[in-house]
Amino acid sequence: MIREYADTPVDPAIVDRALANAVRAPSAGFSQGWGFLVLDQREDVDRFWEVTTSPGELPDSWLRGMKTAPVLIVPCSSKAAYLQRYAEPDKGWTDLDEARWPVPFWHMDAAMASLLILLTAVDEGLGACFFGIEPAYTRATRDAFGIPAEFDPVGAISLGHRRPDETPSGSPRRRKRRDQADVVHRGHWTS
Ligand SMILES: Cc1cc2nc3c(=O)[nH]c(=O)nc-3n(C[C@H](O)[C@H](O)[C@H](O)COP(=O)(O)O)c2cc1C
Repeated sequence: MIREYADTPVDPAIVDRALANAVRAPSAGFSQGWGFLVLDQREDVDRFWEVTTSPGELPDSWLRGMKTAPVLIVPCSSKAAYLQRYAEPDKGWTDLDEARWPVPFWHMDAAMASLLILLTAVDEGLGACFFGIEPAYTRATRDAFGIPAEFDPVGAISLGHRRPDETPSGSPRRRKRRDQADVVHRGHWTS
């Protein structure tokens, strides 16, 4: 994840490629209950930061860095799309009971699509970062960009060129990557 960007515009063809890859993500029942708000104009990106931060808040180094991203993509998921899709005859969950879902597949699929956006950035030699939108700012984000009620932003992705002088950032500076042996359990879960 890259949290500070060079002052170089992103070729719109790269954004298009990232989105074309995103919609090839797997989705439960091929529901494709996702939507992607793309902000690639400076005034829209500025508006995003305006509505997701408190007025008068002094930007910390995270915010200062993230504000340099020329492109933001807000992947959204629609729970309703999944409930409706699975009520179709080939699935048959006509009661729309949410208890049937092992985990919220609507968020999972938007996350899978998000990963394809991140991987496209890597493939193009760019940088990107997936980050959360604090619940306190969801309403303002919806209002500012007209996100319909049936879609929930699952987070946001910043995208831009990497800086030649970039320094490592984020939690991996403070936490070690867990060993595979600690997280892979073959045949039986071992503690
Ligand atoms: C669901 C999710 C939420 C995240 N939220 C944030 C966030 O709010 N801010 C941020 O800077 N990074 C966020 N990250 C990025 C993680 O901090 C990052 O992936 C992790 O520290 C590992 O670093 P790496 O991806 O660079 O290897 C998030 C990642 C995921 C998958």
